[in-house]
Amino acid sequence: MCGIVAYSGTKSATPILLNGLRKLEYRGYDSAGIAIHSDNTIHIYKEEGKVANLIDSIGDYENDAVHQQCHVGIAHTRWATHGPPTKENAHPHGAGFEEPGGSRIALVHNGIIENYRALKSRLEAEGKVFLSDTDSEVLSHLIEFYYTDDLAKAISTALKEVQGTFGIACIAKDQPDMLVVARRGSPIVIGLGEDQTIVASDASAIISHTRQAVYLDDNDVAIIRGGKIDIKTLDAKPVQRDTADIDWSEGAAEKGGYEHYMLKEIFEQPTAIRNSIRGRIDLDRGTSVLAGLGLDSREIVDLQRLLIVGCGTSMNAGLVGEYAIEDFAGMLSEVEQAAEFRYRNPIVGSKDIVLAISQSGETADTLAAVREAQEKGALVAGLVNVVGSTIARETGRGIYLHAGPEISVASTKAFTCQVSVLLLIALKFARSRRLSREQGIKIAEEINSLPELVERVLEQNDAIAKIAEDFVKFDNMFYIGRGYLFPVALEGALKIKEISYIHAEAYHAAELKHGPIALLEESMPVVALLNAGPGMEKTLGNVEECRARKSPVLGVISEGDEDARAACDWVIEVPQSSQFIATVTSTVALQLFSYHVARLRGCPIDQPRNLAKSVTVE
Ligand code: AGP
Repeated sequence: MCGIVAYSGTKSATPILLNGLRKLEYRGYDSAGIAIHSDNTIHIYKEEGKVANLIDSIGDYENDAVHQQCHVGIAHTRWATHGPPTKENAHPHGAGFEEPGGSRIALVHNGIIENYRALKSRLEAEGKVFLSDTDSEVLSHLIEFYYTDDLAKAISTALKEVQGTFGIACIAKDQPDMLVVARRGSPIVIGLGEDQTIVASDASAIISHTRQAVYLDDNDVAIIRGGKIDIKTLDAKPVQRDTADIDWSEGAAEKGGYEHYMLKEIFEQPTAIRNSIRGRIDLDRGTSVLAGLGLDSREIVDLQRLLIVGCGTSMNAGLVGEYAIEDFAGMLSEVEQAAEFRYRNPIVGSKDIVLAISQSGETADTLAAVREAQEKGALVAGLVNVVGSTIARETGRGIYLHAGPEISVASTKAFTCQVSVLLLIALKFARSRRLSREQGIKIAEEINSLPELVERVLEQNDAIAKIAEDFVKFDNMFYIGRGYLFPVALEGALKIKEISYIHAEAYHAAELKHGPIALLEESMPVVALLNAGPGMEKTLGNVEECRARKSPVLGVISEGDEDARAACDWVIEVPQSSQFIATVTSTVALQLFSYHVARLRGCPIDQPRNLAKSVTVE
């Protein structure tokens, strides 16, 4: 969603704020702005479009006295939720500008104020003048309405009236060194420094300054003056929050020489998977070691069902997990789209474990599903990449992905790392049931070989790029797969949709003849997951049906499978393996395929239109 950066300290705030926005631009990027406190005035600058537009509009801040004197400021990149992406709707939003001398306060906000209409009507009746269509501006006016001489108090009073989510940073004209931040449902990370503090909506904007961070809990308010931080609840009760180490290297959050973050993250997958499984495989006992779940075998064996909730790519990874849990452990498992789970009054209880999968750990629908599962007494755990994220903290137990920062909006290494860990969970659950040590060792060895197998797929990058050339002209595609490979079809279709804007649909291979086959023709290519294993022969039959209707077919096949090769117009070979392993190798092949098609179509790739990296609104 939106990106927030804020600063209070001894340096000039402007360059710190602008550099922070550049690091966060992947989160939301249809407008941007900063507000700085200088010579007892709040100066607000905002522009539609990229951060570069904002920087151009600010001009030579390094030689401008106003910017040299500012030591407190807030900044924002926006992903529109209320109101189109315009300069007026960009943050920061001022308030109290009726009086001479400009705004009394300025605010940046990430989240959704659900009762903003009622609040806006009340404030308009009080004579407040609104300049934008946003819910966020309502919050700035509400705070200003309560503000006399204690900014934190005014913010707490206002936030108690708010229904919805917020991550905010706020400054006041008559409080030259003060910055106040607060959160409910939208992340706020506070980076601790010597005589200075930098705040952001995620760690990537902080790590060039500090690795020591404090993560606010919901309804926390932090009053910041330089390096001094006081955290209170909305009821002004002082609270202490733990300090955490941000373990990302700064380079890890940069492109590392690749043209796009997405390509970098695709090629990082052998390392990312190694980090995800490191210390978690016991090859001697043929099991996995997942201390974060906080469950011993007796507790695991008592669980009747493993439910998985997530969105998008995380949900697709969860489907592989569902198949593996049932295949390895003979245990009931099912996946639900998180919002569906949350709103359908799910049948879930104390004999269930609900696993929330989320790369960002901030997806609103998944967070809501976590809270609903907890409400109904289920054991809840997280499979999350971002340390200290809301879902990680609210589940209280789970497994960190350790995939490193995933910057590109299209999720790649998160998927393959999520699947790798889900296979470990399935192995763990299976060994507490009927899976023998020998069977466990075999599975553990295959999981352990994933990094090398992925490296072999990546070696085909040039060959896959060549195949992609033939797909640039298409506007529609089908992806088909069976069993473990059906989630791969879903993820492959999602990936190419997201970044190349080609309309792609995924079907269970057997489903084609129940309707979709009507669309098959020369201009409707089909990607078929044909890895050796159960059902492959049947999918091969489906491929024949496609080609009989002139649909060209790209097959993802097992190395050396000449029958599969002969059945397709193009093939991408992945190493021979069990199908649960092929879910990872085949997905990597389709990630590269999607990337090159999008690149050849001249698409932006890392920041696709309409998308944001973390959807923190429902
Ligand atoms: C996947 O490429 C998308 N970026 C999107 O579907 C994403 O997977 C989804 O929004 C869930 O995000 P999360 O894993 O951070 O919860």
